[in-house]
Amino acid sequence: MGVTEIASVGVIGAGQMGNGIAHVAALAGLSVALVDVKAEALEKALATIGRNMERQVQKGALEAGARDAALARIATGTEMAALAQSDIVIEAATEREDLKLSIFRAVCPLLKPEAILASNTSSIPITRLAAATDRPDRFIGMHFFNPVPVMKLVEVIRGFATSDATFGAVSALAKRLGKTTAVSEDFPGFLVNRILIPMLNEAATALHEGVGDVRSIDAAMKLGANHPMGPLELADFIGLDTCLAIMRVLHEGMGDGKYRPSPLLVKYVEAGWLGRKSGKGFYDYSQDPPKPSR
Ligand code: CAA
Repeated sequence: MGVTEIASVGVIGAGQMGNGIAHVAALAGLSVALVDVKAEALEKALATIGRNMERQVQKGALEAGARDAALARIATGTEMAALAQSDIVIEAATEREDLKLSIFRAVCPLLKPEAILASNTSSIPITRLAAATDRPDRFIGMHFFNPVPVMKLVEVIRGFATSDATFGAVSALAKRLGKTTAVSEDFPGFLVNRILIPMLNEAATALHEGVGDVRSIDAAMKLGANHPMGPLELADFIGLDTCLAIMRVLHEGMGDGKYRPSPLLVKYVEAGWLGRKSGKGFYDYSQDPPKPSR
């Protein structure tokens, strides 16, 4: 059992990832139900989606009429009941396992029996999340990247019980959203974060050991490896707390010292310097252009 063609998408969590997923789904012609416990978060998400679509209109990548039609396809609500008609629900709540599990407990009884449940988790095992739901065969990892409208990848992670039908429907959905998929087995960090986050952690270690300063490290990787952002700038963009949490998942999940979180990264997080979202991380964003914070 399972849906084969997805026409309506529910999104749980109206933060950075959730609003991006709603944005691309609405533009792809799907009807979207965006749910968040906080009404202010929904208002903010709609404003962000409007602004990001306007950017696309200004560049000539999107017609104003198509933008208006897409915005009209997004319904918002603070109640999970708004997801009752969704063919797939993509959970993009805060990266905390207890929170995600309580969301799944609340939402599963409300879903259509054949509906697929996907998680945008960047680090929690899909098999473990799936096992806590009533539909492990219709459960899958669908990992988007920030900023969602720009980043071309969706990482698709199959849990142990994910059915071929679920995998096929979700792969087709990702394609419809204009994304390319990379299929990952359900191991710590999946593919992107297993490779990316240790690199960012290594940049923090190089800074800690005084191999280079913030600007040199970022210039090195931007100009020497053609990365669009330097590793410290990118860590600030992702959030230093998120980077640290993913390093801990890799360290614990693999039991290998090579994934040891950088003590300097830990210090920044302890200081509450979490990157762009808190106004300060490796860089201080109160000044334009941002300057290294220390
Ligand atoms: N919505 C829509 N369009 C957006 C956008 C948004 N939120 N943000 C940027 N854009 C568009 C711009 O309009 C612009 O479009 P054109 O090139 O067609 O004109 C384009 O994206 C580039 O934007 P800018 O010129 O403003 O800025 P930039 O050239 O400095 O690029 C960037 C910004 C796309 C973020 C680029 O720096 C980049 O790719 N950085 C790396 C991002 C990355 O690695 N993300 C993954 C993080 S890991 C993750 O998300 C997963 C996890 O689990 C931790």
